[in-house]
Amino acid sequence: MAKAKPAQTKAAQATWGGRFSAGPAELMLAFSESVSFDRRLAPFDIAGSKAHSAMLAHAGILTAAERDAIHAGLDAILAEIDAGRFAWDVKLEDVHMNIEQALTRRVPAAAKLHTARSRNDQVATDMRLFLRHACAALSEKIAAAQRAILAAARGHADVLIPGYTHLQRAQPVFLAHHLFAWLEMLQRDRARLADTAARANWCPLGSGAIAGTTLPIDREFTARALGFVDARGRPQVTQNSMDTVADRDLFIEFAHACALFGVHLSRIAEDLILWSSAEFKFADLPDAFCTGSSLMPQKKNPDSCELLRGKSARLQGNLHTLLTLAKGLPLTYNRDLQEDKPPLFDSFDQASLCADVLAGTFTGLKMNRDRCAAAVADPALLATDLADYLVERGVPFREAHHAVGAVVRAAETLGVPLHEVPFAEVRKIHPAFAEDWTAVFDLKRAMEKRRGTGMPGPAQVRKQFKRWEKLLS
Ligand code: ARG
Repeated sequence: MAKAKPAQTKAAQATWGGRFSAGPAELMLAFSESVSFDRRLAPFDIAGSKAHSAMLAHAGILTAAERDAIHAGLDAILAEIDAGRFAWDVKLEDVHMNIEQALTRRVPAAAKLHTARSRNDQVATDMRLFLRHACAALSEKIAAAQRAILAAARGHADVLIPGYTHLQRAQPVFLAHHLFAWLEMLQRDRARLADTAARANWCPLGSGAIAGTTLPIDREFTARALGFVDARGRPQVTQNSMDTVADRDLFIEFAHACALFGVHLSRIAEDLILWSSAEFKFADLPDAFCTGSSLMPQKKNPDSCELLRGKSARLQGNLHTLLTLAKGLPLTYNRDLQEDKPPLFDSFDQASLCADVLAGTFTGLKMNRDRCAAAVADPALLATDLADYLVERGVPFREAHHAVGAVVRAAETLGVPLHEVPFAEVRKIHPAFAEDWTAVFDLKRAMEKRRGTGMPGPAQVRKQFKRWEKLLS
């Protein structure tokens, strides 16, 4: 266990050690370091430092030679980090100080790099750059999963299944229509990520620790250099220095987008788990994403789906952590906020992994056509169509619903399927029934009648295939 003794000479803390007579305790170092998890920000931190030093040169605070030396030093450090050769030091707390100290040892001019900058606007900048990247990368992975779902729909375009409400058979739908519902959910997840990326696209640098700087900097220059620009290339800089260093909304929005994606994953997974059970037997999940039992030789368990369902709890937990972290903090930066990164990174990593696994699970998915056909042949699925039949003959819907309910009851009493109730019985229930009443139970005809936008009829399904192929190409 680390002992509470001063571990450092104050020289080790060259960045802020000036007013201190002793370094932090070893225990405090271990407690407060973030470099073990924020080192992944290095590429963004270096991009930020290059833009900031370019701006300082533009403003006449650095010479061109100093700027160039800083840039060359930062490039060399990034190459070392990429190659795994950079010596990270927990005594230097975080990614920002590790890089700045390494640079200062090599490039004397780097002592000027932190001019008009604080770790508070620096970390806000790094995280906005990270989030822009994370939103795009996760969205691309979700799109790949959508493509796998679309391919599964294509491979089973003629398959009909019962749609369910209350987990009771409701009405027939094309399997593709069910899969398209999932595509819609995932498309909204991607839209949320795009929204978050757009809100991340404002440059914090120049906000300083809390109140900007007295030096003549050019915030728009830095923003442009980092690509914080609108659609027309105009720089976007944050508008309040205090909000800029205190704000963690984007973290929460990103974690929320991941948590809601997780809820969608979980619902998709739950359907697949049901479909792959012996009770349904609609689907056969790919062996590569299932496991067996160490005891029961016959078992093939839907583990990828169960873990997708389980990971969604973790994604919700991360969102909750961030909400709780931010609530009650006085403006502006507080060290609590360092705890914002582990849950955010975890949400990104786990959501990315989940998207890959979702794609993999669909890639080998096989549907059991016979089981689906048998389930969807249940004539009771078309009881609503029978009510519509009466409506077409002028019967008010409420009355039609009641009459069909009586036909269903008669079928149950007689112990026959719905369409085999004798016409004489049906006629007794309502005079609007004619001899042709059983035509309603032609599944093909029933599907074709569902023509409106968003409905599961074959013409609409064809249209949706075209739409998704275009959206996902
Ligand atoms: N490691 C810190 C964090 O992630 C960087 C900001 C430190 N700022 C400060 N005033 N101590 O929050």
